[in-house]
Amino acid sequence: MSDPQLLLAARVQAALAAAFGPEYAGADPVIRPSQFADLQSNAALPLAKRLQAERGEKQNPRAVAQEIVDHLDVADLVANVEISGPGFINLTLDDAWIAAEAQRALADDRLGVPAAEHPQRVVVEYSSPNVAKEMHVGHLRTTIVGDAIARILAFLGHDVIRDNHLGDWGTPFGMLIEHLLDVGVEAAARDDSSVSDLTAFYQAARAKFDGDPAFADRARARVVSLQAGDAETLRYWQILVDVSKRYFNTVYRRLGVTLTDDDIKGESFYNDALAPTVRELEDKGIAVVSDGALCAFPPGFTGREGDPLPVIIRKSDGGYNYSTTDLATIRYRVDTERVDRMVYVVGSAQALHFQMVFAVARMAGWLGDDIRAEHAQIGNVLGTDGKILRTRAGGTVKLAELLDEAVQRAGAAYDETEHDPSFDAATRADIVEKVGIGAVKYADLSVARDSEYTFDFDRMISFKGNTGPYLQYAAVRIRSIFRRGGVDPDSATGPIAVGHPAERALALRLLGFGAALEQAGEKAEPHRLANYVFDLAQDYTAFFESCPVLKAPDDATRRSRLALCAATLRTLVTGLNLLGVPTPERM
Ligand code: ARG
Repeated sequence: MSDPQLLLAARVQAALAAAFGPEYAGADPVIRPSQFADLQSNAALPLAKRLQAERGEKQNPRAVAQEIVDHLDVADLVANVEISGPGFINLTLDDAWIAAEAQRALADDRLGVPAAEHPQRVVVEYSSPNVAKEMHVGHLRTTIVGDAIARILAFLGHDVIRDNHLGDWGTPFGMLIEHLLDVGVEAAARDDSSVSDLTAFYQAARAKFDGDPAFADRARARVVSLQAGDAETLRYWQILVDVSKRYFNTVYRRLGVTLTDDDIKGESFYNDALAPTVRELEDKGIAVVSDGALCAFPPGFTGREGDPLPVIIRKSDGGYNYSTTDLATIRYRVDTERVDRMVYVVGSAQALHFQMVFAVARMAGWLGDDIRAEHAQIGNVLGTDGKILRTRAGGTVKLAELLDEAVQRAGAAYDETEHDPSFDAATRADIVEKVGIGAVKYADLSVARDSEYTFDFDRMISFKGNTGPYLQYAAVRIRSIFRRGGVDPDSATGPIAVGHPAERALALRLLGFGAALEQAGEKAEPHRLANYVFDLAQDYTAFFESCPVLKAPDDATRRSRLALCAATLRTLVTGLNLLGVPTPERM
């Protein structure tokens, strides 16, 4: 690991142990970026307080800082150590060390990012749209963010199970199947059939269900046969699932999302596990009958009046619930998939649902303390009017139309930029598709996933600022330097030197890639990687503006700068790829 922040944290801890005794080895070294040096350790102040409390004599933080510095062994990477103010330890890294580490990252297939020391099996559950319904922007965001989390964790060396928890079961299938029979089963198998317009299909079924009592009766009877496993009913159900999967797959392929049919474990997958799950909760005395329904009451969850909140396990009509399926899912993931961690990338509206389901699973002993279950909350996507994104007519925005508009607007923005006029129509179409899709994806990824964000085409498609197109353009600009110089980026191997402050800052940023990925993976927060990639692009821009590359003053400097360009290009493209944002070859 060449991240100086982590390295120095370990060194400061070693110094604490050497200076004050082994029981201080675990104290927080409080390493922060500093205005006055590269990094600063603020360990002395809290430590002085702790020493005072434990030893009973007054401690001067500056003296404590001096004591730490006296035991600090950092000569290999730090050029200057200075104590300032009430006891801050300022650390300036050695230029030669920075250059050598950047060189090492460049020569490494993994760009200096170590693979996880303790690889975990992690299930990342994301996308999870509902059958016979069009995906909407909410699903778009969980799909994009979840895919980035899965890619990042896999790159870090974890064993990632992608899991698409399709909503493919439940009472709506009664009316959907009856409607399917009305419009004609055979027609449904064709892609151009009325069934392929899922929203219209769902709404038509719903309208009949609400307005036609005979239809509603048929629908209810159909639910009963579906749940009883009637073969013919299951065949109809499967047709609806297949049409939906085809549609979801077209969206995934267009977005460059890595989910395939093999990753689908929909709600129906757990059908046979529901009854045993419920039985075990009853046997353990966790599930009790309340108002005719079978419920669990996890401690600590109460309603407005202080009344205990139930997780409904079985409804009074005998049907199972969304929560029942989630409990069965947890058991499957623990017992069969043997996961160490579960990441649920789902809208924040379901936060309470997951807290309560996890609590019940812990009560039942299905989810041990050694297993992490986390709801990676996804905030709402708002329109520019500040309300949940809707079409002008007030309906939900269809994903395919949204992406078409993004690409079309990206085309208009791209045509305004200066670019090689010799590009043919196919090249332009490829660039514009990548810019449009990349812009939408990056906009989703660059803000903290749990905060709301405003879907604003003009902002996301801009070539300036923290946007997908800006970053794609940064990568393409580096490629064009190599093209103009007639140099293959793979042959730009340095050696790297960091004479100019902009070279030094860029090289130092390159060393932070591993730490950014590590944090993004640990917290399941891709925006940490997005922010890193943006900072890198900005450091590169500053370097590019003050350090001529092809026209460098001498050959050694040219070689060093080309190597910095090559390392930046690979880090940028790898980072964007882990976010799932494509980079065009040329723009
Ligand atoms: N299908 C659900 C929806 O569209 C999301 C599923 C979330 N995952 C889960 N394990 N409950 O809202």
